[in-house]
Amino acid sequence: MPAENPLLARNDDIGAAIFDEATIARRVRELGREINGYYDSGELLLVGLLKGSFIFLADLVRNIERAHKVDFCIAASYGADTKSSGTVKLLYEPDICLAGHHVLLVEDIVETGCTLNRLADVFEERGPESVEFATLMHKRVTSTLAKEPRFVGFDAPQEFLVGYGLDYDERYRHLPFVAGLKGQDG
Ligand code: IMP
Ligand code: MG
Repeated sequence: MPAENPLLARNDDIGAAIFDEATIARRVRELGREINGYYDSGELLLVGLLKGSFIFLADLVRNIERAHKVDFCIAASYGADTKSSGTVKLLYEPDICLAGHHVLLVEDIVETGCTLNRLADVFEERGPESVEFATLMHKRVTSTLAKEPRFVGFDAPQEFLVGYGLDYDERYRHLPFVAGLKGQDG
């Protein structure tokens, strides 16, 4: 083993870790247990929102002991100048039919929560047993969400964060920790 993992080599743009690898791993294990206990019966389907949730989802599913299915979707906001008035469309849909499933949408980070709320409406129309959200982080920017995530890993500072799936211009997703980006506001 080389003394320094090149994947961990710091970039000058990255600040100190806000949530380090061990802290994230511990919290994801707890979330797995919470989810396991919450859904005592029925078919559970986790749907990861690409791309940001891919690392969180991969770790989360390995901490949920009950049987469940996994799928993905890609959402995009259209038709408005601000996120809060936009509509969400699915660019990639889950293959699995949502009807009859408890659907748990898995997100990397909630800022306004608009993406998740609009997606919940789209998903509800397809006749699932239930729709809930799990997010690794929540910036708690607004308290007027129609539906709050039921499972939240961490309350996050209102700054721009990267790592553990989160990107800036498609970079830094591979970092095993979450850190702020220098010179950026949330
Ligand atoms: P919302 O609809 O405002 O909650 O948007 C949430 C989405 O914005 C997340 O899925 C991320 O893709 C993106 N996002 C919000 N905050 C950050 C951040 O700090 N770093 C990277 N992406 C972010
Ligand atoms: Mg995202």
